[in-house]
Amino acid sequence: MKEPKQLSVSAIENGTVIDHIPASSLFKVIQILGLDKISNQITFGTNLESKKLGRKAIIKLAGVYFEDDDINRIALVAPEAKLNIIKGYEVVEKSVVEVPDEITGIAKCVNPQCITNFESVTTRFRVVSKKNVSLKCHYCEKITDQEHMVIL
Ligand code: CTP
Ligand code: ZN
Repeated sequence: MKEPKQLSVSAIENGTVIDHIPASSLFKVIQILGLDKISNQITFGTNLESKKLGRKAIIKLAGVYFEDDDINRIALVAPEAKLNIIKGYEVVEKSVVEVPDEITGIAKCVNPQCITNFESVTTRFRVVSKKNVSLKCHYCEKITDQEHMVIL
């Protein structure tokens, strides 16, 4: 017998649902958004079926709403993530994440001589291309492209 269609993770009354996260990026997203440090109710689902991503993850945050700048920090690890703002159990707003103009932390500079790679200096980049993400280091000006990008 076929299982009935139902939500794998319960609906929330108010808050934010981050959907279409590649399953392999779930813990990065949690880390980038600092979700381990908040006391709101959070539910996760991972390795859920997705036509687009193969295996996707979803995060539901009760009573949490993000600023664009904060949420866009996940764009490097979850470029296809979709945000849903929930109020009174209804989806009242949908948006997609967008690669920001500047990135602080998150990625490693490709240049082994860069100060960020031998002193405890947080990486900082200007985004020179958003499509095939490429990052220009604030300190050494070397370009880190998508292919060489290592997420911290
Ligand atoms: N959702 C939720 N709580 C609600 C309403 C919606 O957790 N009260 C979740 C749904 O489970 C879904 C996401 O929010 O993961 C978006 O909801 P909806 O737009 O209804 O789903 P879809 O049309 O499938 O979304 P998509 O735009 O991703 O196709
Ligand atoms: Zn550098």
